[in-house]
Amino acid sequence: MVYFRQLFDSTSSTYTYLLGDAHAHAAVMIDPVAQHCNLYLSLLDEHKLKLDLILETHVHADHISGAHCLREQTGARVAMGKDCNASCADIQLRGDEMLTFGAEKVLVLATPGHTPGSLSYLWRERLFTGDALLIGGCGRTDFQGGDAGALYDSITHKIWPLAGETLVYPGHDYRQHEVSSVAQERRTNPRLAGKSRDEFIALMNQLELPAPRMLQAAVAANRHCGSERSHAA
Ligand code: FE2
Repeated sequence: MVYFRQLFDSTSSTYTYLLGDAHAHAAVMIDPVAQHCNLYLSLLDEHKLKLDLILETHVHADHISGAHCLREQTGARVAMGKDCNASCADIQLRGDEMLTFGAEKVLVLATPGHTPGSLSYLWRERLFTGDALLIGGCGRTDFQGGDAGALYDSITHKIWPLAGETLVYPGHDYRQHEVSSVAQERRTNPRLAGKSRDEFIALMNQLELPAPRMLQAAVAANRHCGSERSHAA
């Protein structure tokens, strides 16, 4: 039996995911937020789950990661893309690895573009896309080494070929949408549907979005897995 929870941080509109193998009492968290560390610990406790892995989809620019706090409290290992340049991570991922917790498997997909180290994680019929593919959108590509062409290639080569019924769980949503599917995004995502690579790049380059409020502090801390110690550095 598996356990699945989607959790929402209303300050940064971030989604965090808890995946569990209830039989083996093993769990994984994707993109935890530092403020909610105690909530995560009580959820794990309540469901008798031991946290094995903390998976980051990328170095976040809008919230402090809960990876450090969860690792301290549970001994779980932190995994991130090697191109995140976050030496705090216990496991440096390149893509195509198969991670396990209990009897469950998570496939790592390299989906760079929002940041060079961005990863997506496929577990059963669920794909956790971080800020690569959002519901009706995609992550911005105008800072943190973003590259619109790379993002187009990631989405069209890595995500679109997946089964259409694969559920898409994004890293953020600002309109209370919780889940989509690969088929729905392929058909209706306004940034991508019917757009050539060049058209996508042109669109991304003229978005002129404001910088996230927490950009400097969040990126600095998250290179250290969200450790407070990094603030003094
Ligand atoms: Fe992001």
